Amino acid sequence: MANDWSPESWKSHEGRHLPTYADTAALNDVEERLSHYPPLVFAGEARALKADLAEVAGGRGFLLQGGDCAESFAEFHPDNIRDTFRVLLQMAVVLTFASKQKVVKVGRMAGQFAKPRSAPTETQGDAELPSYFGDIINDIGFDAKGRQPDPERMIRAYSQNAATLNLLRAFAGGGYANLRQVHQWTQDHIGRSDWGARFAQTADRISEALDFMAACGVDPRTVPQLQGTSFYTSHEALLLPYEQALTRKDSLTGEWYDTSAHMLWIGDRTRFEGSAHVEYLRGVNNPIGMKCGPSLEPDAMLRLLDTLNPAREPGRITLISRFGHEKVEAGLAPLVRAVKREGHPVVWSCDPMHGNVIKSPSGLKTRPFDRILSEVKGFFAVHRAEGTHAGGIHVEMTGQDVTECTGGAIAITDEALGDRYRTHCDPRLNGAQSIELAFLLAEMLNMEMRQRDAEAA
Ligand code: PEP
Ligand code: CO
Repeated sequence: MANDWSPESWKSHEGRHLPTYADTAALNDVEERLSHYPPLVFAGEARALKADLAEVAGGRGFLLQGGDCAESFAEFHPDNIRDTFRVLLQMAVVLTFASKQKVVKVGRMAGQFAKPRSAPTETQGDAELPSYFGDIINDIGFDAKGRQPDPERMIRAYSQNAATLNLLRAFAGGGYANLRQVHQWTQDHIGRSDWGARFAQTADRISEALDFMAACGVDPRTVPQLQGTSFYTSHEALLLPYEQALTRKDSLTGEWYDTSAHMLWIGDRTRFEGSAHVEYLRGVNNPIGMKCGPSLEPDAMLRLLDTLNPAREPGRITLISRFGHEKVEAGLAPLVRAVKREGHPVVWSCDPMHGNVIKSPSGLKTRPFDRILSEVKGFFAVHRAEGTHAGGIHVEMTGQDVTECTGGAIAITDEALGDRYRTHCDPRLNGAQSIELAFLLAEMLNMEMRQRDAEAA
């Protein structure tokens, strides 16, 4: 266990982007109740994910992490959970089929509620109120009462997370994710696109392969991996009182785990040295992500890696770069070189969303799809040049047919953004854009594999 660490040692460190609760008695009461609630995940599952990620860090496998920017109480509906889950399955199939590598699936789901904001307050007309920090903290409506941080929201978020996770576990293990269903995963609005047609071709080939294997005696009854899949959850560990209340000592190993999700990450705004968020996460044994943006210097990154992973355990750390399409090549290369030089075993993942936000002429925040693709290409180019593994993708996406990011094969124009703009925070890829991205990723991964084979030959 980390030295001088306890589940509350973060409290003596600088915590940015944490709400101030006016009623401390109410906060204490919520923390006390949550600390007796059942853990949402089991430590053994977090260890299984770490083992999967260790494979990815070693160049064998790919991490697919995606979901909402911010989950919300309003969008809590079984159809939304199913639709995002199935687009992730489709993306995983495309990636696995192209790369012949294991794809580790992790949702930004069942806990992705709290948001860091660029300004602590928002002004509309003459009124200035606290910003919206996510449904687990306050209300999105511009209303003085609703914008006050309310600890009871943590209880509501916990129960939504428990129900979401329950459905995800049922889908992953109960037959929905059976590869025999691969054709049923396509939704109408995706099926209409060229990429929908390409997905159908991939699905045909998978079905053919399954028929062939069944004829040879290999079918879902004998090979359980064909019947279901592993699916893990993750979110930004931002709201530390909530994370602390769900921190438990594993009865098998005596180690601490954050049982609110399998994997937690530290955001770009809270990963500075000495931060409360770094302090909290260094002591829990889950796999940890860290966002790496343009302000991160290689030396500071190496010191953070030593703090978060002193034993250099593979699978413990995923570095999620988010530079923006113009900065990725120059910004990422020095970080990749430093990590390689020091021999830290990390998964390198690409978040092509957070460095590519612009304001559209209509005033809505958006992300042009071509910039997202361009950051992904830059990420792969850096890894090809450095001889390292481009190990994953981290995206904000949904299975719903939203109009939040411009571009894509079913092109969303600036004027159309307002049609179905439903996000509670940043703009997400819709289902069709997500599949299109998966095909590009498959191509890039294939190129990496071919280069590796050629070098080995
Ligand atoms: C996010 O992933 O929603 C986020 C806030 O990202 P970042 O910390 O990279 O800005
Ligand atoms: Co976001």
